[in-house]
Amino acid sequence: MKLHAADLVARKGQDPIAMLTAYTCPVARAVERAGVPVILVGDTVGMVEMGFESTRDVTLEHLEYHLGAVRRGAPDTHVIGDLPYGTDADPDTALASARRLIAAGADSVKLEGDKYAVIEHLVANGIDVVGHTGLLPQTAESFAKVGRGEAEARRIRDEARGIQNAGAFMLVIEHVPYELAGRITADLAIPTIGIGAGPDCDGQVLVINDALGLGDYWPPFSKQYAHASDTILDVARAFSREVASREFPNNIIKLTGTGRG
Ligand code: KIV
Repeated sequence: MKLHAADLVARKGQDPIAMLTAYTCPVARAVERAGVPVILVGDTVGMVEMGFESTRDVTLEHLEYHLGAVRRGAPDTHVIGDLPYGTDADPDTALASARRLIAAGADSVKLEGDKYAVIEHLVANGIDVVGHTGLLPQTAESFAKVGRGEAEARRIRDEARGIQNAGAFMLVIEHVPYELAGRITADLAIPTIGIGAGPDCDGQVLVINDALGLGDYWPPFSKQYAHASDTILDVARAFSREVASREFPNNIIKLTGTGRG
């Protein structure tokens, strides 16, 4: 059964909420079958799937394409669509962008930082919004942990509160000291979802490629539950070897009885 924004708010303080990113139909289907209640179609897709150096290269059209695929794979899962860099620059632009993501299959949209007027405008127009504080990949100069100093920690706590007060129903907290994420979680009435933010958030999100071990770099705070890149390498090598030796397709023809004519 699909969870809506109000259901997710009701999960505050209950069992932790699991969230995975997904970008394609078969992955979304597997994530839904596993019972993960929330999928984020994040603009990380630009870096982990499209070969861009930054999430800033991701467009609304890219997000629409991936949202459509994910929605077809996971019709009964809450899907969050990320507003790409610049598409939430002001309230009206953000509303037009958010409506496109919703039309493409999103149940709610996520945006980075202290854009309180944008959040208010989206919520006033019936769009459910997820906020994002801490490390903000669209504008950060590096991927280092943020919020270590007292002033920066205070700024992030204020931002979290501002995002909640503007009407967001959930908040992603990225790569901050665990203690800071715990304090924000205790401060807020909406659920917090951590990534590199420690155990005290109301839920955890992982980028699916990091979880699968797909790619050649994974953030230190992520966990590799598999090593999909190694599997792809093994499969490609085996196929290439079998084509060279004519073993393929002869081996499957013998197996299935498929032949000429
Ligand atoms: O775009 C994304 O996948 C994200 C996660 C890192 C939370 O924002």
